[in-house]
Amino acid sequence: MMMGHRKPELLIWVLSILCLACFSAGFNPVDNYLIDCGSSTNTSVGNRVFIADNLASNLLSTPQDVLASTTLKSITSSKDSLLYQTARVFTGSSKYTFSIRQSGRHWIRLYFYPFVYNSYDMSAAKFGVSAQNYVLLSDFSVKNASVKEFSLNVTSNSLVITFTPSGNSMAFLNAIEVVSVPDGLITDDANSVTPSANIPDLLPLALETVWRVNMGGPTVTVDNDTLWRTWIPDKNFLLTEFAANYSNLPAVKYVKGAATEDAAPKTVYGTARVLNSSFDPSGNSNVTWEFNVDPGFQYLVRFHFCDIVSNALNQLYLNVYIDSWIVARDLDPSTYSFNTLGTAFYMDVVTVSTVSNKLRVSVGPSTLAVYPIAILNGLEIMKMNNSLGSLSSADTVNISSGSSSKKNVGVIVGGSIGAFVAVMLAGTLCLLCRKRRRLALQRHSKTWIPLSTNGGNSLSMGSKYSNGTTISAISNFGYRIPFAAVQEASNNFDESWVIGIGGFGKVYKGVLSDGTKVAVKRGNPRSQQGLAEFQTEIEMLSQFRHRHLVSLIGYCDEKNEMILVYEYMENGTLKSHLYGSSLPSMSWKQRLEICIGSARGLHYLHTGYAKAVIHRDVKSANILLDENLMAKVADFGLSKTGPEIDQTHVSTAVKGSFGYLDPEYFRRQQLTEKSDVYSFGVVLFEVLCARPVIDPTLPREMVNLAEWAMKWQKRGQLDQIIDSTLVGKIRPDSLRKFGETAEKCLADYGVDRPSMGDVLWNLEYALQIEEAVIDGDPEENSTIMIGELSPQVNNLGDSNTSVTTLPFEASSVNDLSGVSMSRVFSQLVKSEGR
Ligand SMILES: *[C@@H]1O[C@H](CO)[C@@H](O)[C@H](O)[C@H]1NC(C)=O
Ligand SMILES: *[C@@H]1O[C@H](CO)[C@@H](O)[C@H](O)[C@H]1NC(C)=O
Ligand SMILES: *[C@@H]1O[C@H](CO)[C@@H](O)[C@H](O)[C@H]1NC(C)=O
Ligand SMILES: *[C@@H]1O[C@H](CO)[C@@H](O)[C@H](O)[C@H]1NC(C)=O
Ligand SMILES: *[C@@H]1O[C@H](CO)[C@@H](O)[C@H](O)[C@H]1NC(C)=O
Ligand SMILES: *[C@@H]1O[C@H](CO)[C@@H](O)[C@H](O)[C@H]1NC(C)=O
Ligand SMILES: *[C@@H]1O[C@H](CO)[C@@H](O)[C@H](O)[C@H]1NC(C)=O
Ligand SMILES: *[C@@H]1O[C@H](CO)[C@@H](O)[C@H](O)[C@H]1NC(C)=O
Ligand SMILES: *[C@@H]1O[C@H](CO)[C@@H](O)[C@H](O)[C@H]1NC(C)=O
Repeated sequence: MMMGHRKPELLIWVLSILCLACFSAGFNPVDNYLIDCGSSTNTSVGNRVFIADNLASNLLSTPQDVLASTTLKSITSSKDSLLYQTARVFTGSSKYTFSIRQSGRHWIRLYFYPFVYNSYDMSAAKFGVSAQNYVLLSDFSVKNASVKEFSLNVTSNSLVITFTPSGNSMAFLNAIEVVSVPDGLITDDANSVTPSANIPDLLPLALETVWRVNMGGPTVTVDNDTLWRTWIPDKNFLLTEFAANYSNLPAVKYVKGAATEDAAPKTVYGTARVLNSSFDPSGNSNVTWEFNVDPGFQYLVRFHFCDIVSNALNQLYLNVYIDSWIVARDLDPSTYSFNTLGTAFYMDVVTVSTVSNKLRVSVGPSTLAVYPIAILNGLEIMKMNNSLGSLSSADTVNISSGSSSKKNVGVIVGGSIGAFVAVMLAGTLCLLCRKRRRLALQRHSKTWIPLSTNGGNSLSMGSKYSNGTTISAISNFGYRIPFAAVQEASNNFDESWVIGIGGFGKVYKGVLSDGTKVAVKRGNPRSQQGLAEFQTEIEMLSQFRHRHLVSLIGYCDEKNEMILVYEYMENGTLKSHLYGSSLPSMSWKQRLEICIGSARGLHYLHTGYAKAVIHRDVKSANILLDENLMAKVADFGLSKTGPEIDQTHVSTAVKGSFGYLDPEYFRRQQLTEKSDVYSFGVVLFEVLCARPVIDPTLPREMVNLAEWAMKWQKRGQLDQIIDSTLVGKIRPDSLRKFGETAEKCLADYGVDRPSMGDVLWNLEYALQIEEAVIDGDPEENSTIMIGELSPQVNNLGDSNTSVTTLPFEASSVNDLSGVSMSRVFSQLVKSEGR
């Protein structure tokens, strides 16, 4: 199945010579056994030499020496055919013992091609193969040329591979490879969307490569792969007819911290299967592939992505599915790109035990996408050993016997991006499922002071520190950074570098040795309270990556420390721009954009995953601004996943910040997303009025901003209390929309409050009203059309408005009134010129 040929294109051919050049210099495995079984001479296959059987006889113990050979020359069209001309026949249990010089994962590749030799008809052979304690094959028989690839983490200094004939049958083998796999190719980054999912520790697992596919590209042979793998084309698996192949090899960049060429060669990342739903009138569809798999096993599915189609960052947003389950929503390749378009990266996902013998993989454009395009560059599907330590379907266990199997069946779980890699996951949550390391999601302490920071924002993970250590994915909680590196980055916690202080501890500005500016939050000496928040923050930020959520670069828990290292947010907190500082006053448009950005971040938390996450401490001090004043929500120490379907959160202590607290939560102590909506409503008034939410120095009726502003809003005189610098600078319609939105957020009962998606939509609308008028020429406004799709008029019922199409930045607000907002590019705008 790993074979198959396709005529390569010239471009690929040229580039692969380059590949080959780097590969010959590159891959030099410590353990490298290549044996052509039954052969009396060395056999060259591509660039590698399989040694003659007799040179390996010291590795083999077998009851009877049967060296078989055939004169058939044209067995298969593959180069491997040279290996297929000889074989070893095992009439009794036989074993190879390889001494292992470097412990770690090793590939075992077994080549089979049955032929008749004397009285031995290999196509009648039936046998088992095991390695260490794992069953690789059982009752295996083979009719055609076949290569089986396994990988095993060998921790002892020898690897024993045993061939055992079933009953009176025999076993045979044409060639065998035992080759060291570079560390870091398979790491323990599997994650889970559902806390109930049971993701095993990946490091010790035995894996079988079931499929390794180059989407939209040619076969990549052993010689063209940096690690001697074979990739086959995707055509035979494709269920979607109209997805095109696409090739752009020069676009591929291997960026430090993302995937390396070892993850997959350029021929894989530089070619893709592309669905351009601009062609498709429905405007929204998936590309789907279907693979045969053995039911009853879990699979590690590795998605290889590289944005070779966009001409700028942040154009492509994908939804990724396995079967009907979403693996990643709004996956933004730019997030993994380190500001370099065309950065190769991959994402690991573990499926639960499948019940079906088909596994379907789909990618589709997300509603956030600028153009409705979906791509996939490569895919690997690896079978994981079952609880019996077997990879053979003959040893299937009863999958309904697992403890959490009810929830698991069919549920896709997890994913991680780029293994050695850097990045926390987009799209996946794993940590929650790792019960053994999981802390109860209970927090006790008050709120944290936010990270208020200034400085650069580039992410650089996996960077080398001066002491030679590397951030590595050694823990399930993202990226552990050595204490020495944190110390160095923060100038040994220089007091003059402190940029914030709070209950949790101090926040320092810092610079990693590669120049990346960071914010270093150092917890006070470990207390149970702080520890819980520390863990939550790491869990949350490892699971969620989004443009509007602040990114965690790493953490340090050495020496009882609790240190979190974040991307640096140049412009500090939203609060600092509103009042209490000498910073210049922001325009209404800037403020609206910040509100929209934070609403996006929160909307994503609430809806981005199987389970809603409630931030619980939404306030202006937890909204940070980057150098472009783009808002990111920070401080997840109190966050909590939303109510289970069958159970409602009744928390013992109300947490959050005074002035922003949802009164309903206070009364009933029941936590829902609507508590965040309430707090966000308070932030909206804060943004409009530029005053603290609680100001005890003011007259009694003014102390609480929420009450004060609601009073004026209900009277329809909100304009009386707005920030004095905004007076006369807000379009009345924009202000009215904004006021109404904030008012709805502050409804007494959660059920009466809008969802974050509605809030987002309304704020976008408020911004468009503002922009449409300020940008002047009404004639022009009335004809702005964005996108190729025919605009749909969404009549919002405002009678004195005329219809104008405007760029509506599509976002994931498709939960509005049953209309898919992603395709609504039109808005009603009051146009004064008419
Ligand atoms: C693989 O490498 C060989 C040279 O060893 C070259 O002839 C061939 O075109 C390459 N194939 C691909 C798909 O890159
Ligand atoms: C076969 O390969 C082995 C290992 O590379 C080498 O030591 C040996 O000399 C070769 N034998 C022949 C006949 O080329
Ligand atoms: C092999 O397994 C051991 C023990 O589980 C683990 O510590 C080690 O990191 C693993 N190595 C690799 C390369 O996965
Ligand atoms: C073996 O492979 C040949 C050529 O690829 C094919 O025609 C034949 O059907 C295969 N046989 C079996 C049993 O799969
Ligand atoms: C797509 O594949 C076909 C053959 O299957 C090939 O002729 C064509 O050049 C490919 N197109 C691209 C853009 O790679
Ligand atoms: C998608 O299709 C549209 C409309 O035909 C075209 O303008 C655009 O360039 C295509 N994009 C890609 C990446 O093929
Ligand atoms: C894409 O596939 C997923 C999973 O099967 C499905 O839920 C979703 O509705 C599909 N999207 C479209 C537009 O067909
Ligand atoms: C894989 O096999 C090992 C050794 O038998 C076993 O400990 C482990 O639980 C198995 N993994 C799974 C996921 O069942
Ligand atoms: C598997 O589960 C089914 C139903 O739960 C049960 O009837 C059957 O006996 C089980 N088989 C084994 C081998 O445990």
